[in-house]
Amino acid sequence: MSLLRLSVTAVRNLHPVTLSPSPRINILYGDNGSGKTSVLEAVHLLGLARSFRSTRLNPVIQYEQPTCTVFGQVALAEGGTSNLGVSRERQGDFTIRIDGQNARSAAQLAEMLPLQLINPDSFRLLEGAPKIRRQFLDWGVFHVEPRFMATWQRLQKALRQRNSWLRHGTLDAVSQAAWDRELCLASAEIDEYRRTYIAALKPVFERTLSELVELEGLTLSYYRGWDKDRELSEVLATSVLRDQQMGHTQAGPQRADLRLRLGANNAADILSRGQQKLVVCALRIAQGHLVSQVRRGQCIYLVDDLPSELDEQHRRALCRLLEELNCQVFITCVDHEFLREGWQKETPVALFHVEQGRITQTHVHRE
Ligand SMILES: Nc1ncnc2c1ncn2[C@@H]1O[C@H](COP(=O)(O)OP(=O)(O)OP(=O)(O)O)[C@@H](O)[C@H]1O
Ligand SMILES: [Mg+2]
Repeated sequence: MSLLRLSVTAVRNLHPVTLSPSPRINILYGDNGSGKTSVLEAVHLLGLARSFRSTRLNPVIQYEQPTCTVFGQVALAEGGTSNLGVSRERQGDFTIRIDGQNARSAAQLAEMLPLQLINPDSFRLLEGAPKIRRQFLDWGVFHVEPRFMATWQRLQKALRQRNSWLRHGTLDAVSQAAWDRELCLASAEIDEYRRTYIAALKPVFERTLSELVELEGLTLSYYRGWDKDRELSEVLATSVLRDQQMGHTQAGPQRADLRLRLGANNAADILSRGQQKLVVCALRIAQGHLVSQVRRGQCIYLVDDLPSELDEQHRRALCRLLEELNCQVFITCVDHEFLREGWQKETPVALFHVEQGRITQTHVHRE
């Protein structure tokens, strides 16, 4: 999957623009505040109907403008193209269009345009709350396991029901027991999907990481969210009182996590910022490989400020791995000198200069 065309209107400081990106490597360069990250933000909006910079979307809409809009023509893996459009009004109205039809949810976009973001905040995947790692994990499972979404919805429904019962006790015990059984069934399925996914991800991650950086003893493991030796039903039964006190269910897949350790330590406590970035890159590149194995259409990589935190050797290694993915990649940087060179002769590379919200293509990619 790649973007053949991208049209952006009233996103941040960007002047209305239509780009024809390279199917492979796209480099956006320019001074601070020129609008490079905003271009990635526009692609992100198209793929997920939200920004990666702020939870609210109003700041993304250009000052004085009522609406921001992003259109994209996507080359589909199975051949043909699809037209996606996302627009957001200042009052909050959202429109998602896929091939001329209103879409029901952003999940439809996510399925058509799998995106991977690597930016200077990426270290949060290691340092941040478990929720960030669960999102990472479930992104992968969602894109390779078609049954995941429906099971996930069943799980959420059963969990909401149990939490409401814990707080208000409105349901009789027999009916709640039926809900608990549903919760345990859905949990077991989600756990199975996640476990299978991690088993596939691990070797690809380890290989990718070893090509980026030498980190002896780094391990990736999966915690399912409850005691590995006990059934969830048993855990739930013994923790009812505590769950009631807390007002929600303490154990289950909603508590799952990925653990990255270096020897006996939490990797985030030991690794340098640059090493953290490389580990996150390896995780995200490994996910891209798994998506390509299952669906020929690969994901699109957004790499904001690629050079930051990395020395020359590691920048090169990262570029090489991104290139080997055979995906469409959008890279931003202030100084693009080192990014101009070093790509394979046959890789189409497009360069875009961003100046005060205006974008000019300075190097046309070769097809
Ligand atoms: N809603 C908005 N309307 C108009 N301009 C905005 C809006 N929000 C942000 N800006 C401006 O848009 C510009 C684009 O910022 P952006 O983060 O894309 O720059 P950048 O090229 O990535 O810079 P850097 O190299 O510092 O990361 C900034 O100058 C910012 O002040
Ligand atoms: Mg930026």
